[in-house]
Order: sequence, then structure tokens, then C-alpha cells
Amino acid sequence: MKEDKKHLSVSAIQNGTVIDHIPAQNLFKVISILGLDGISNQITFGSNFGSEKMGRKAIVKIADKYFERDEINRIAIVAPNAKLNIIKDYEVVEKMVVEVPKEIRGIVRCMNPKCITNAEGIGTRFEVADKASVTLRCCYCEKITDPDHMEFL
Ligand code: CTP
Ligand code: ZN
Repeated sequence: MKEDKKHLSVSAIQNGTVIDHIPAQNLFKVISILGLDGISNQITFGSNFGSEKMGRKAIVKIADKYFERDEINRIAIVAPNAKLNIIKDYEVVEKMVVEVPKEIRGIVRCMNPKCITNAEGIGTRFEVADKASVTLRCCYCEKITDPDHMEFL
């Protein structure tokens, strides 16, 4: 572990998942998307660490929890460059990157105010029209929701 001594550090965990390189402004969206506010595992996090690549980053450590691929990919819209470290007995045994999925259900609101998902409380569903920019096309009204207009549910 080479955490810079000049920066704050968050204690190592024995077993679990460390999610690194989360944009600091999206830390709480990641927590909410992964449902971490509703679980009883020990969670530690830190924010506003300096990162050469991304300015300010946040990190979340969840003890005794390993995520499924499709759970992890749900954070791609708010933390596309996140890196997951799988920790077993204090060692990093695997590193994973998130992938933008083909389809996104929930999480994001359709930006068309007339969309059925806004009018009648139907769950949102989008096809990812462009993975690089994370541009979403609503499966109900076909309107595009781009990252600049993205509102989270
Ligand atoms: N980590 C942890 N508990 C452990 C082992 C590692 O919390 N028992 C954390 C480290 O603090 C780090 C991340 O997991 O934030 C990845 O650890 P490691 O691969 O050792 O660090 P780096 O080499 O800095 O990783 P990278 O350059 O891939 O970001
Ligand atoms: Zn819509």
C-alpha cells in the first residue's frame, strides 16, 4: 500500500472491497446507488484526496462485502474511472474496473418532463446511446438525457 503520507488515509481493511478513484463530488451518489446506506457492514470512506489524474477523489471501503459485476457497473454513470480492489486477508487479490452497461434501469430521471416515467411513477429505463460520454436514450419516450442534464432519482 503506497498511500502518500502527506494525504489523509483511511485504515486498511481485512476483507472486503475498496472502491477508489471516485470523483469527490459523486461520493454520496455512489453510496446511494450501491445501497450502502442500508447495509450493516462496516464502511469507511474518505473524500477530497488529491489525485493527479482527476483532481479530487474519494474512496470507500466496505468490509466483508463483494459486489456482482452488474451491481458495480451501476456506478459507471457517476464514477466511470472507479477502480475496485478485492481484499482478502489484508491483501489486494483482484482489481476490477467499472464498465458502462448497455442499459440503465432506475438511478437517473428522464429529462423529458412529459415522459411517462415522470408522469406516472414508472421506473426509468435507458439504452446507453454513447458509452464514452454516458448519453442515455429513454426506452419509453426515446428522448436523450445527456450528462449535463442528468438528475438522479
Ligand atoms: N487497501 C485497503 N486495505 C488493504 C489493502 C489495500 O484498504 N488491506 C486499499 C489501499 O489503501 C488502496 C487500495 O486498497 O487505496 C489499493 O491498494 P494497493 O493496490 O495496495 O494500492 P495502489 O498500488 O496504490 O493501487 P492503485 O495504484 O491500483 O490505485
Ligand atoms: Zn423518457
